[in-house]
Amino acid sequence: MGVTRRTLEKKKSQGEKIAMVTAYDFPAAKIAEEAGAEILLVGDSLGMVVLGYESTIPVTLDDMLHHTKAVTRATKQSMVIADLPFLTAHLPTMEVLKSAGKLMQEGLAYGVKIEGGEPVLDKIRTLTDAGIPVMGHLGLTPQSVNQLGGYIIQGKEEPTVKRLLSEAKAVEEAGAFGLVLECVPEELAEEITKSLSIPVIGIGAGRYTDGQVLVLHDLLGMGGEWSPSFVKRFASVGDTMKNGLEKYVSEVKNKTFPTEEHVIHLREEVKLALYG
Ligand code: KIV
Ligand code: NA
Repeated sequence: MGVTRRTLEKKKSQGEKIAMVTAYDFPAAKIAEEAGAEILLVGDSLGMVVLGYESTIPVTLDDMLHHTKAVTRATKQSMVIADLPFLTAHLPTMEVLKSAGKLMQEGLAYGVKIEGGEPVLDKIRTLTDAGIPVMGHLGLTPQSVNQLGGYIIQGKEEPTVKRLLSEAKAVEEAGAFGLVLECVPEELAEEITKSLSIPVIGIGAGRYTDGQVLVLHDLLGMGGEWSPSFVKRFASVGDTMKNGLEKYVSEVKNKTFPTEEHVIHLREEVKLALYG
């Protein structure tokens, strides 16, 4: 057994930080697990990061399933959580159960993540009762980007601070085993973290959450020039890739690749028989 919800609860109670990162394919999942990340999130950010969409809204359950399968083929220890894509959590209960069930049964995910508070509490309860571990997601919820009016910091004014606090508690009470808090002031994230017994994982939520999550391509520097201010670039993988590819292209063009060491030859007797 790899990382479970118990592992995470223990880490919270011992004050040990939890490292979570997105993963969308086999090689990246393998590397992230080897690097020690406890949770791999097959985020619907895959729509933007690896499928080239403008937002997460076009991502389908089949997209999620396809990538979740690749990620779980690579992992032995890390907990794999798959996002329920746009709209899915708001469909009739049977549909939500089927979708989340697919991500576990076919995708082999440990559990699912659902964006939102009040409107999805009953679904969190139903899934949890059915044995599907659910991670909540509050604050900036990218599936609601059009409704929110953009990727805007959440919980800056008193009423939204209070609402987020009570929604976080409600998500825990509905049975969620963890909560992602995105793009909220540090003070609010700290208060939520202290008031919940389930682990709270922050992204752009400051220093005092129980753990951090970032989009893999952002933290590795392979997501283009722009990234949000809360992202730290830990590597420049995009530059490394471009460099390698430029060398390859130029060696093909100037005939320095391939050389003798990369060449396959006919055996001598075959050569003789063919060409004398
Ligand atoms: O889809 C995603 O990558 C996410 C994280 C940013 C939490 O939901
Ligand atoms: Na997501």
